[in-house]
Amino acid sequence: MKATAVAAALTACVSISLCLQIAGQQPSTAKPDPWWRHAVIYEIYPQSFRDSDGDGVGDLKGITSRLDYLKDLGIDAIWITPIYPSPGVDNGYDIADYTAIDPKYGTMADFEVLVTEAKKRGIRILMDYVINHTSDQHPWFRESRSSRDNPKRDWYVWRDGKNETSTSPGQPPNNWQSWFGHSAWQWDETTRQYYYHYFYVQQPDLNWRNPEVHKAMDGVLDFWMQKGVAGFRIDAVSRLFEDPQMRDDPYLPGYNVYGDRNIKHLYTDDLPQVHVVLKEVRRVVDKYPGDPVLVTEADEPNIEALARMYGDGDEVQLPMDFQIADVNQLNAPKFRRLFNEVENNSAHGQPEYFFSNHDQPRQRDRYGDGRHNDQIARLMAVLELTTRGTPQMYYGEELGMRTTDPTRIEDVHDPIGRLGWPKEKGRDGERTPMQWDGASNAGFTTGTPWLKVPPSARQYNVEAEAKDKDSILNCYKHLLALRKSESALRDGDQVSINNDDSEVFAFVRKSSDETVVVALNMSAKARSIQLDLKTAGVRGSQLVPLYSAPKFTAEGSDRVTLAPFGALVARFE
Ligand code: NOJ
Ligand code: MG
Repeated sequence: MKATAVAAALTACVSISLCLQIAGQQPSTAKPDPWWRHAVIYEIYPQSFRDSDGDGVGDLKGITSRLDYLKDLGIDAIWITPIYPSPGVDNGYDIADYTAIDPKYGTMADFEVLVTEAKKRGIRILMDYVINHTSDQHPWFRESRSSRDNPKRDWYVWRDGKNETSTSPGQPPNNWQSWFGHSAWQWDETTRQYYYHYFYVQQPDLNWRNPEVHKAMDGVLDFWMQKGVAGFRIDAVSRLFEDPQMRDDPYLPGYNVYGDRNIKHLYTDDLPQVHVVLKEVRRVVDKYPGDPVLVTEADEPNIEALARMYGDGDEVQLPMDFQIADVNQLNAPKFRRLFNEVENNSAHGQPEYFFSNHDQPRQRDRYGDGRHNDQIARLMAVLELTTRGTPQMYYGEELGMRTTDPTRIEDVHDPIGRLGWPKEKGRDGERTPMQWDGASNAGFTTGTPWLKVPPSARQYNVEAEAKDKDSILNCYKHLLALRKSESALRDGDQVSINNDDSEVFAFVRKSSDETVVVALNMSAKARSIQLDLKTAGVRGSQLVPLYSAPKFTAEGSDRVTLAPFGALVARFE
């Protein structure tokens, strides 16, 4: 074809692949990256996000009403913690019906509107899949406990006690302990056996050795996939199986906050059968289009255990990295070692990073030094949002929200806070309402919020921070936008540099056409450092800041001075 004819054909062509064929090229067959590889996930604790009807409890309509805020912030998916009917002992992690909506959050119609409206804004929804246990009020368990020969008896884990007599239950079958204190076995008088519960007494464990449990739980996944969700965060997955020989767990020195002897959960955590179930979950969700994703909650003790969660690429795509979340101090060598480990994980899996969630004090309080907390909040934002993995945020972290524990035992909602008071105050402190504005209840509700809004909300809220260009909120927005605009931050490899530095954690992100350098001063002293860019194979002569806090001034091509807890993200040209 002559050039003019090609040009005419190109103007007229209707599809890219047809255009390429006319131009004499073959269309690329490379599969595009799945969406979650470049996504940022935002965790919503629905009870605390936004209340639409003034009952003091957040709800689905409340979330829908704030989708524009989330879109503007720049996140790609929301994970909503459980919104299913529940007696609420563990705030929804005790489920009484897996395929319905708890009326306190609204209706199934409200959920469908949320999915549709989120989709319009390019936001995907992940549901919480609570796989290990149900509520004791779930009809399955009510049946199971009704008689020893009920067809659902074996859906849960029932055992005889030790030394039981006709007048006494004897002792629990072994020494296994609940994560939430005391024995993991609960005596049930009706059928005179013990049932097993890794978490609260009201959360009996499902028996995953029973094929009917598999079938019923697979059906739950189908139900929500058909509603248009993009995947699941799987709860407490490492606790699914227990040792069939029922061996006692070994004791460790000391006592926990509930007064029990410390034990190692050797016979109830991470049994190999967990992976059989994860493969099955993956097969079920993979029947649906759109690259569904699985995220797991599993506080794996080391990189080998974490890497096993990926399977052979046929289990979980995003196992949450608890090792990094729980460093709990600004320690450059520790972060460097852990990031390097997961970057080079043997399964070549995508890392998933977070620093806060609904189970642990907020990052502001865990990483702040009490003097530079706002600056440290920005530093942590840079750490979370410039690394290669998929970041997961927790509502309000973008404002610098702090943990606000109850001050009196009478005010505690989370049962472990009553059991372990005052050493353990429970998890209410990290679940306080989202701070939307400076009004008395921070714009969360027109009623009385289920948890008090702290006084700091007057300063740290969306409305106030949106107006301040140096706010923590604007730091997050800036970084989230950079993850989209800079190919190196979106796609690039990650290589740590200045590996002997004990106070600055620095790394390079490098794509085919861009190099970005990130340097984080994790100390309270200003630090001047020579960035070791040549060793990382990086060429260039100029650092062009993309984000810096506080404002950064270049001193040459590779020497930088970082303020106390200073953070720099710069393109190297
Ligand atoms: C982990 C959840 O994140 C936590 O909130 C819950 O209490 C336990 N799993 C039990 O479901
Ligand atoms: Mg409400």
